[in-house]
Amino acid sequence: MRRLPAAIFLYSILIWQPLVAQTHGIASGPHPRVPVRSGIYDPSLDAKVEALLRKMTLEEKVGQLVQYSAGQPTGPSTGRTDYQDMIAKGQIGALLNIATAKETNALQRIAVEKSRLHVPIIFGLDVVNGFRTEFPIPLGLASTWDPPLVEQVARAAAREASASGIRWTFAPMVDIARDARWGRIAEGAGEDPFLGSEMAAAYVRGYQGARLDAPDSIAACAKHYVGYGAAEGGRDYNATEISEHTLRQFYLPPFHAAVNAGAATIMSAFNAINGMPASANPFTLQQVLRKEWGYRGVVDSDWEAIGELIAHGLANDGPTAVRKAFLAGVDMDMTSSLYHDHLARLVRSGQISQARLDESVRRVLRLKFALGLFDHPYTDEVHEAAAMLRPEAISLARTAAERSLVLLKNTPGPNNAPILPLSSDVHDIALIGPLADDPPNMESLAKLERNEDLISFRAALSKHVGEQHLFRVRGADITGGTDEDQAAAVAAAGEADVVVLALGEDTGMSGEAASRSKLGLPGRQQELLENVVATGKPVVLILFSGRPLTLPWAFDHVPAVLAAWFPGIQAGPVLVRTLYGESNPSGRLVVSWPRSVGQEPLYYNALSTGRPIDNTDPTKPPSDDKYLSRYIDEQNSPQFPFGYGLSYTSLRYGATEVSRNQLKASSLNAMLGAGGAHHPALTVSAEVTNTGPRAAEEVVQLYVRLQGTSVAQPVRALKGFQRVALAPGETKRVTFDLGPDAFAMWNDRNQFAVETAKLSVWISPDSAHGTAAAVEIVP
Ligand code: BGC
Repeated sequence: MRRLPAAIFLYSILIWQPLVAQTHGIASGPHPRVPVRSGIYDPSLDAKVEALLRKMTLEEKVGQLVQYSAGQPTGPSTGRTDYQDMIAKGQIGALLNIATAKETNALQRIAVEKSRLHVPIIFGLDVVNGFRTEFPIPLGLASTWDPPLVEQVARAAAREASASGIRWTFAPMVDIARDARWGRIAEGAGEDPFLGSEMAAAYVRGYQGARLDAPDSIAACAKHYVGYGAAEGGRDYNATEISEHTLRQFYLPPFHAAVNAGAATIMSAFNAINGMPASANPFTLQQVLRKEWGYRGVVDSDWEAIGELIAHGLANDGPTAVRKAFLAGVDMDMTSSLYHDHLARLVRSGQISQARLDESVRRVLRLKFALGLFDHPYTDEVHEAAAMLRPEAISLARTAAERSLVLLKNTPGPNNAPILPLSSDVHDIALIGPLADDPPNMESLAKLERNEDLISFRAALSKHVGEQHLFRVRGADITGGTDEDQAAAVAAAGEADVVVLALGEDTGMSGEAASRSKLGLPGRQQELLENVVATGKPVVLILFSGRPLTLPWAFDHVPAVLAAWFPGIQAGPVLVRTLYGESNPSGRLVVSWPRSVGQEPLYYNALSTGRPIDNTDPTKPPSDDKYLSRYIDEQNSPQFPFGYGLSYTSLRYGATEVSRNQLKASSLNAMLGAGGAHHPALTVSAEVTNTGPRAAEEVVQLYVRLQGTSVAQPVRALKGFQRVALAPGETKRVTFDLGPDAFAMWNDRNQFAVETAKLSVWISPDSAHGTAAAVEIVP
């Protein structure tokens, strides 16, 4: 690609910038790519919105800001059920948790035909990793390191959900999660803000499509704004302490990326940040979101989050909770009913201005116009079924699941070859463990479980090897089991050539309200594992889980371990293809895999202490100096680092090469200020060779470190990645063009800028390996 010389580039940007900024409201920060604006920014909707607003009574306006759950509750129940009557009176703007065209149409008919102003309802649902076609959980989808694939997944989910009348998903969850105890780590893209931002934008693009008003587009909702993943102790809903610097550098970027990708809505979180609940937090909701980012979409509260301001201790009664949440910037009240109960009175008494109310109502109406709901409020019930489980969606579910699997270990079995892929000499397989044929536990976090859609691992493996060659024994339940079960498993293992163990958590052990203080295998599964390994038979362990599990014994004693997460409806065929080498694992960890729970929170992009211990090289014994930052009973390093994952081939990385050894902070800052955050400033490359016998897709990663800056920076920070296909023996030079945003940081004045620094750049297979190239950033 030809590049503009920097001076011409700057000139062109400075000339065009005012115009672009005016049109798009460019915000500061690490994602100043010209934002893709969805329909909610379309000025042609303003006249329609204003005309409708003028006709509305105070109660009707409040009604647009009220949302209830009318289906399977996904939180504590509000006790209300008189929705039909409320809709007819214009008292409800949105509903959630209804999932069929028949039901959405029935309620929509009341809104459109019976309410005075005929304003349609918007129906929302947690369409998290698919609707009817269930894909891997988001942690698995992120492990693909494949944003275009994730975009397609979100598009497929939008097609199905919209066919049932759902035009709003409460997804993506873009919370940074550094602590595997927190169950909701399963729902996001892991610990890294760069990868998290790429994934956030991909989901938004996929859900919302090219146009929000296309009938198969659904509004995205980036959640949970913000800092929810930093829950103390990993306990769900818990308080967080996050400095402004850390908030800006780590927790806000994925939300900013979602906003810039056009996310139509944002959900405010349950947690308090430094004592101020996120759902009443003027700094995050107004200063950052509205003022700095120019956001015009709807902010929806999380489930009951407004009522919970009382439990937080921020309000002693409903009206105060409403006033604080509303004035902080929460437009819509999900399920607490407090806006319905108190908002109109607060406006009448002057505690909330009419103008402020109108602002929120405008946003909701604009969203409904942008989605085309006024023109097409109903869904075609006849075509609903045909939109589900389309062959292309199933094939996408297969690709996504294949790329989500992370091969953690694969050492030689008895014949000195790596145990995976299984050789053709393997005839009899013992399939042991509670997760081999348990459909709900192979699917996902989705609320709609239809077991018949899934092909279980057992079914697929049995088809592959033949029923007579598969010795299926459960061995244990997820949390229980008997001595007889264990004995039967040992007996089956003894008969087989290879044992495949399917162990882990059930889906209810991760996700919301599923924090764990212990991260090992639940119940008697560890005992089962040890008993089976003691038979001396080669063992392949497949882990199903919504988080990394601490299994040091397994990683020492089991020759092959594959992290499968929850792979979705194609779990069976995909696992079989991977076991037999028809697919080469290419997933990479998006979370640092802990050795023990006491290491949490554990994340690679940490700061160095003043007394660091270098244990990145496992061949080096830890220093025996006492006064270093470390545990006396555990290593500092993770079991497996962020970015890690094996494949069935071997790869060699050449030296990291840089196009120059010096960069100028002043030029980079000028480019940043002019909206050129991604304009190439440094080219970094390395040769990557497939030295093994199989074709591979390698996730080549680029990390940087800045030293000598006004605020200490992480020991490594991801700034780029590419999936590269390599044939056996093939070498490719992999090149990254880094823009100024790769070297910029939130400084001691909380400004996003480049500073003079010693810069190290690595191109490496994960966050713990590789050799850095050195660059100096001068004034
Ligand atoms: C969760 C949200 C979800 C909402 C609606 C809440 O309990 O925190 O993530 O979108 O319920 O189901």
